[in-house]
This record gives sequence, structure tokens and C-alpha cells, in this order.
Amino acid sequence: MPKVAILANENGPNLVMVDGKVVAALCRCGHSSKKPFCDGAHHQAGFRAVKAEVTIIE
Ligand code: FES
Repeated sequence: MPKVAILANENGPNLVMVDGKVVAALCRCGHSSKKPFCDGAHHQAGFRAVKAEVTIIE
């Protein structure tokens, strides 16, 4: 069974990882024009957030 992890990246999106590979970057700043995916708009928006714990679902 694959290992799935969610990593809240510092000042950026929530990264969905499967077996250690990023398979999706989900917007958490609210500024993406491609929601639910991150389009990099968090940089211009000056989004600031702390890195969160990785959650692993096995
Ligand atoms: S987190 Fe990247 S655009 Fe929102």
C-alpha cells in the first residue's frame, strides 16, 4: 500500500506526497486562479504560514 503524506509547506501550498513524490500542490493562500491547485500566486501575495507536521496515512 502506498504511503500518502500531506506537508503544509512553509509560506506555500499543501503538498500531497505519495511514496515520497509530490503528486499535487494544493493552494492554501486563497490567491490561486487554478484552485484547488497552487499556481505560485502565494509569492506575489506575500503569503506567510509556518510549516506543519507531516501526516502519514498508511
Ligand atoms: S499556495 Fe500557492 S497559490 Fe496559493
